[in-house]
Amino acid sequence: MMPLVFTLLCLCVLKMGGFSASVTQATVQSELQCHDWGVWSEGSVQVYDGEVAYLYCPLFSHPTLYSYNQTQNSRLSLLWYRHTHTQELEQPINLKLHKLHKDREYLWIQPASVLDAGLYTCMLRNISSCVKIGVKLEVVQKDGECDPRAKPHLNLTIPFQSERTLTCPDLNTLTLPNSTHSVSWYQSCRTTLFRSDRELKGDGLVIYRMLEPYTGLYTCVVSYQMNGRTLNFTRSINVTAVVPDVGPKVPIILNPASDQIFTVTLGSTVNLSCRVYLPHLYEEKQNIWWTVDNKTVEQLADPRFRSPEATLFSYDYGDEIKERILYVMDFSSDDLQREFNCSARNSRGFNTSRAVLRTEPYVPTLELGCGLGVTLALMLMMFVIYHVFWLELLLLYRSWFGSDERYTDDKQYDVYISYARNSEEEEFVLSTLRRVLEAEFGYSVCIFDRDSLPGGTITDDTLRFVGQSRRLVVVVSPCSAVRGTQALLELQAGLTSMLHGGSLKVVLIQFKPVRRKSWVKELRQARLALTLICWKGEKSAPLSSRFWKQLQLELPMRRDTQHTLTKLPDITQHTPDTHTKNTHQAEEKLIDPYSTSAL
Ligand SMILES: *[C@@H]1O[C@H](CO)[C@@H](O)[C@H](O)[C@H]1NC(C)=O
Ligand SMILES: *[C@@H]1O[C@H](CO)[C@@H](O)[C@H](O)[C@H]1NC(C)=O
Ligand SMILES: *[C@@H]1O[C@H](CO)[C@@H](O)[C@H](O)[C@H]1NC(C)=O
Ligand SMILES: *[C@@H]1O[C@H](CO)[C@@H](O)[C@H](O)[C@H]1NC(C)=O
Ligand SMILES: *[C@@H]1O[C@H](CO)[C@@H](O)[C@H](O)[C@H]1NC(C)=O
Ligand SMILES: *[C@@H]1O[C@H](CO)[C@@H](O)[C@H](O)[C@H]1NC(C)=O
Ligand SMILES: *[C@@H]1O[C@H](CO)[C@@H](O)[C@H](O)[C@H]1NC(C)=O
Ligand SMILES: *[C@@H]1O[C@H](CO)[C@@H](O)[C@H](O)[C@H]1NC(C)=O
Ligand SMILES: *[C@@H]1O[C@H](CO)[C@@H](O)[C@H](O)[C@H]1NC(C)=O
Ligand SMILES: *[C@@H]1O[C@H](CO)[C@@H](O)[C@H](O)[C@H]1NC(C)=O
Repeated sequence: MMPLVFTLLCLCVLKMGGFSASVTQATVQSELQCHDWGVWSEGSVQVYDGEVAYLYCPLFSHPTLYSYNQTQNSRLSLLWYRHTHTQELEQPINLKLHKLHKDREYLWIQPASVLDAGLYTCMLRNISSCVKIGVKLEVVQKDGECDPRAKPHLNLTIPFQSERTLTCPDLNTLTLPNSTHSVSWYQSCRTTLFRSDRELKGDGLVIYRMLEPYTGLYTCVVSYQMNGRTLNFTRSINVTAVVPDVGPKVPIILNPASDQIFTVTLGSTVNLSCRVYLPHLYEEKQNIWWTVDNKTVEQLADPRFRSPEATLFSYDYGDEIKERILYVMDFSSDDLQREFNCSARNSRGFNTSRAVLRTEPYVPTLELGCGLGVTLALMLMMFVIYHVFWLELLLLYRSWFGSDERYTDDKQYDVYISYARNSEEEEFVLSTLRRVLEAEFGYSVCIFDRDSLPGGTITDDTLRFVGQSRRLVVVVSPCSAVRGTQALLELQAGLTSMLHGGSLKVVLIQFKPVRRKSWVKELRQARLALTLICWKGEKSAPLSSRFWKQLQLELPMRRDTQHTLTKLPDITQHTPDTHTKNTHQAEEKLIDPYSTSAL
């Protein structure tokens, strides 16, 4: 029960005593209640532990309602409260306490300790009216002689070459005019011997000639006696150098330059950048703005035009280059006719410059890219198709546009097969090559040993048969180099016929790799003019293999055999009933054509 009541009580206290964050929202609750101005955040005070602190009651300056003189006239009294204890601190100067001291609108804490940190409230009150505002006091530990990261109490800019005297801020407020006090000066927290261009003079530090090394954080520590006690306070000044105030100091518009051309794209968002050189001037707001037909963006009130605040582009001893961008959305051809000016002004003058615009023809990059991409992809596809299927394409082309040689000559055979007898090739020729050419492709094949009639002269018969054939297929073998064999005779006959303008074409088939050196001289000489088709073992066995397609391409065209292109039956599945023995041998060969070779 008790904790609940306590919590409720606390909530009530919090609600009633709650400070509004905003100073401007005063609340009147009743005649007896006060106007509460909340907490004055800008007036918060930070002091080092053990040093003098003073709080200023902002009622006399911030919400400029009261002057101290008026306070006395209207019998208003100034009271100080400490928020943490809700305890009234108002009392006359308590000489016995020494620590707290009220002087006009100031409250002194001499010296302040960590325990004094917190929120202080000053209240002005007479019988009929009351107003109050809070001020925060922060007490921090001093780290060494001074803290180089301390927030400066004053920012000071001194022009190069000029003279300036630094005085410790609040010195006159905190010390009585004729009191005995001492001031120590530090630069960047180091005790410096101020020589030549700088000198300690009285309480101040004189800089006779401002130079770059004299910039930085200066710290002053004031010690004084009060009521027999030594009191200290520390202040810091951030000194920066600026260019001296000489010359015209008129803003100079760097961009848009007179010879600068802005290329714009119709239909897109256009950025126009204005860069202005603003020479350093003391405490002056220099303006940069864009105008469109001598109207500011605010005057235009068109959502297509937007110009955010200028941003700092570079800073050099007070001289600034600032940039302001004008964004124009959906830039139209009408906008091209408008006058876009960037202007800048300060107390020394005004300058304006016009941005010269030129259109860039609309390039539909996306569409163009897509079109190009599709074209490239198509080309790549066709390239791949051609390289993978060139044999098929050639065969197809021939089947459509080629002519059947049977109608133009009176030759008896399509193919004459020449091979070395009693070799590995013989087996291949008789079981595989001949059967496919005859049974599958429907060619008329001439094999000398089978088709020649006994009794005739071998040489004459060979020449006659070769002459009666449209193609001479030579199965190249190391054995065909042997002089005086039938194979060599056939080869010589074919080559002679071909070289002397005959209608015979010689095609080479390599069943097993044969070194070129072991080829007969005639073959080596004619090699470049001839097509060589290589048997790749089992891989070449199916009718759909490259071997058969290549061979077919070299042999005369047969319109009725083109089905092999589409049906592509496997040779091993095709077993005519009549050549059972041969086919079995062929199958063995197809599975391992090199089984009998002595490799
Ligand atoms: C307050 O009164 C004093 C004299 O009493 C006068 O010197 C001072 O200027 C007055 N201040 C204001 C702000 O009126
Ligand atoms: C109290 O102070 C207010 C504000 O300054 C003033 O208007 C009023 O006359 C004062 N009342 C009396 C009784 O002095
Ligand atoms: C000094 O300048 C800094 C920015 O450089 C600023 O944040 C600070 O409030 C200034 N201090 C005073 C006392 O003006
Ligand atoms: C301070 O001292 C000067 C002389 O050094 C004297 O003229 C002046 O009256 C003194 N002021 C006070 C408030 O004592
Ligand atoms: C006051 O400052 C002087 C010199 O800077 C120093 O010696 C002394 O300890 C300081 N006193 C306190 C109470 O901080
Ligand atoms: C002093 O001022 C300069 C310029 O305003 C600033 O760059 C620098 O950070 C400041 N130094 C401190 C310690 O605040
Ligand atoms: C204006 O700017 C131009 C360059 O943009 C510069 O030459 C000139 O000095 C500036 N001032 C005046 C008054 O024209
Ligand atoms: C326009 O401004 C945008 C955003 O600031 C930026 O990304 C873009 O690059 C700028 N375009 C041009 C042409 O300056
Ligand atoms: C631009 O407008 C201002 C008033 O807004 C006027 O004083 C100035 O003469 C105009 N400038 C031009 C070139 O029309
Ligand atoms: C725009 O700038 C040009 C100089 O570049 C100037 O002649 C013209 O008067 C300016 N227009 C306005 C409206 O200020």
